Amino acid sequence: MISNEMSEKLNLQINREMYSAYFYLGLSAQAETANLKGAAAWFFAKYGEEMEHALKIYRYLIDQDAAVSFTGIAAPPSRLEGVMEMFEQTLAHERKVTGAINELVDQALSEKDHATNVFLQWFVTEQIEEEATVNDILGRLRLFGDQGQGLLMIDNELGELAKQITAEG
Ligand SMILES: [Fe+2]
Ligand SMILES: [Fe+2]
Repeated sequence: MISNEMSEKLNLQINREMYSAYFYLGLSAQAETANLKGAAAWFFAKYGEEMEHALKIYRYLIDQDAAVSFTGIAAPPSRLEGVMEMFEQTLAHERKVTGAINELVDQALSEKDHATNVFLQWFVTEQIEEEATVNDILGRLRLFGDQGQGLLMIDNELGELAKQITAEG
């Protein structure tokens, strides 16, 4: 059993993960429109990962015999200006999610809820990896450029990264 407060906060995190999925699917559509096939595949792969995150928490709540309650999912940003802004917004978004995960850990620790604390550690590690990956992509966009040949190269790399994510999942 977990506390009502803990389960309410985990339910909110399901919503954040669903929003993250929606956010990435929206960016994937925008990348498709811009003919950035690799970026579109990468954002689509992230969409799938975020859905898995939402379902992990869903399953945890069920396993803990806690209530699951869904709320509306906000619309993601539309029409971002170019690939640089897409990844800048992605980093800002993931940093917010990291903050939310940290608050969930704080809650679990304050309640001495060891099960939820252990459950959340996977998400703590995942956020480190996600922020690092997006930082790396942004760094390469700044170094090689977000237009022309530089963008083509990075778009190809993103396509390869997307294949790796899909193979792992
Ligand atoms: Fe996530
Ligand atoms: Fe994420």
